[in-house]
Amino acid sequence: MSVEQALRFDGDALWALDQTRLPWQETELALRSADDVADAIRRLCIRGAPLIGVAAGYGVALALARDPAGLELACETLRRARPTAVNLAHAVARVRAAVLGAPPGEQAAAALAQAQAIDAEEQAASAELARHGAQLLSGTGRILTHCNTGMLAAPGRGTALAVIAELAQRGSLELVLATESRPLLQGARLTVWELVRLKIAHQLLVDSAAPGLIAAGDVDAVIVGCDRVAANGDVANKVGTYALALAAAAAEIPFVVAGPTSTIDPSCPTGAQIEIEERGEEEVRTVVTGGEPGRWELTLPGTRCRNPAFDLTPAPLVTALVTERGVARPAQGDSVLGLLP
Ligand code: MRU
Repeated sequence: MSVEQALRFDGDALWALDQTRLPWQETELALRSADDVADAIRRLCIRGAPLIGVAAGYGVALALARDPAGLELACETLRRARPTAVNLAHAVARVRAAVLGAPPGEQAAAALAQAQAIDAEEQAASAELARHGAQLLSGTGRILTHCNTGMLAAPGRGTALAVIAELAQRGSLELVLATESRPLLQGARLTVWELVRLKIAHQLLVDSAAPGLIAAGDVDAVIVGCDRVAANGDVANKVGTYALALAAAAAEIPFVVAGPTSTIDPSCPTGAQIEIEERGEEEVRTVVTGGEPGRWELTLPGTRCRNPAFDLTPAPLVTALVTERGVARPAQGDSVLGLLP
């Protein structure tokens, strides 16, 4: 089976391409309750900041369709599924407000309409930001990206990977360098899967190779997505992003962040207020096996590990923030907040 969308809603269930099985198996999960959706988000079957926001919106709608009294519990369960990407909290708050503003009897329909509106807005944002990003990076030949930021991470074509796809269509792109993105290998498993489908030339790197290749002059620009952008422009994104930003600054090449404005959090003055998700130690001690359910041990069982899923890149290291509403350059303070609707 070939699945063309990361998420689809059929009226009864939210169908999600199970990203934990990629690239070896393309299977869909049927999610029928807010708990199902929250669990899929926690396990990273659904992942990527804009996509978990959209999924959470449908999760609230599924809860309302069952029982209007379940609104608050569903919102709380979904909001707590993952803490760093603000899109999740934004989407839950939007659907909750639509429900509370609707007359009794019309609340389930209001929830679904709002979830669908968020989905449509994110799809449109992806197309627009791809255009702005490709204009900004016009002529770039060799680009490095981290984690997965394509159609598996956001509705439409994604964020940073949408810019890359647009550059490829415009003809300048020679090569994409994709990092593995340990521990869960979103680059090795998901970005490579997408680049193959997009027919874009690419090479996979271990994460630790990237700064050295940037320093050696093998990369013309770095582009990444974002999970939350603070009011001052500090960026939370997949762990490893900060090292890439430092390397890009030292090599004096552009370090570009791409994301929809739903990822900007004006209530966080700086990155210091962003909660960085810490995930289980098992993810570091082990690695997924290709195709077979299970994981390989990488170290001695019981070795203590630290597993921050994201890191913070200070705004001065960001050359530009690309959104659907235009580009903030430099991506600091008023230029970031000025992008908000
Ligand atoms: O832990 P993940 O896989 O959800 O992390 C995803 C990222 O860090 C992406 O770079 C980010 O969400 C932007 S994706 C459009």
